[in-house]
Amino acid sequence: MHTHSIALPDTRLAVHTSGVGPPVLLLHGFPLDHSMWDGQNPLADAVRLIVPDQRGFGASGGDGPASIAQMADDAVALLDCLHIHEPAIICGLSMGGYVAQHIAARHPSRVRSLILVDTKLEADTPQARVLRRSLAAQVLRLGPEVVAKAMIPNLLSQSAEALANPQRLALEAALHRMIMAAAVPTIVAGLEALGDRPDMTEAMAHVAVPTLLVVGDDDSITPPECLARAAQIIPGSRLLIVPHCGHMVPMEAAHVFNAAFLDFLGVACHSA
Ligand code: MLT
Repeated sequence: MHTHSIALPDTRLAVHTSGVGPPVLLLHGFPLDHSMWDGQNPLADAVRLIVPDQRGFGASGGDGPASIAQMADDAVALLDCLHIHEPAIICGLSMGGYVAQHIAARHPSRVRSLILVDTKLEADTPQARVLRRSLAAQVLRLGPEVVAKAMIPNLLSQSAEALANPQRLALEAALHRMIMAAAVPTIVAGLEALGDRPDMTEAMAHVAVPTLLVVGDDDSITPPECLARAAQIIPGSRLLIVPHCGHMVPMEAAHVFNAAFLDFLGVACHSA
C-alpha cells in the first residue's frame, strides 16, 4: 500500500494505492473516508486499487466539496497525476456513486466500467433538501456527533441477522470514528453538494460501459427499489441485492461484495 499526496490546483488529496492490474477507483460515501474500503484490500491481488479521501474528507485538504461535479473532476485529475490514462473501473458508494455517475457523464473516455453501490440516480426531493439544511444547522451548533447519531442506525442493516454479526460493534465503531473525524465545514459543504446534485436519470440512460449495481436488501437510505429503477435505465446493467445488509454493503458483507466484484471483473475488462 502506497500513500500519495496529490496536489490539485486548489487543494491536496490523500490517495492510497495498492496492487497491479486494471485500475479501480473506489469512492467513499458521506461523510466517510478511504478506510470504509478496507475490506476490499484483498482485491489488490487482482487489480490496482486507487482509494482517495475526497476533498475535505479524511487526510485530504480543503473545506469540502462545492459540488458532486467538482469531486468527479478531482477524481479524474488524480488519475492524471498518477499517470493513469487508460479507462478505469469506477466504483462508488452512495455519495461516491453520485461522483461515479458524474465521471461517467463528464469524462466518459476515463470509464471502463461502473460499479454503483447503495446509491441512486434521482436528485433529492424538496423535503430531503430541507432535512439536509436542518442537519447542517445542527452540525454547525453541535458538531459531527449529530451526524453520527442521525446516520449510523440508518447506515447499517437492523435485521436480526445483521445485529447478530460478530463484527457489528466493530462496524459501528469504524463508522463513528470516520464521522467524528470529519471537519464541520466539510460536513456542511457535503450536505449542500448532496442536496444540490442534479437528477442523473437521463445521463445514465446513455451509459455504454458494463455496469454492476449493488444494494443491501435492508438499505433504508437508497433502498433496493432505487437500484432496481437504475437497472431499468442503465443499458445492460446487472443488479445484485445483498441479503442482511443496509447502506454499507462493502463493509457489512465484504466477502460477498468482493466475490461479486471479481465475478464482474471479466465483464468489466472486456470493454477495453
Ligand atoms: C452517503 O452515504 O454517501 C449519503 O448517505 C448519501 C446521501 O445522503 O444521499
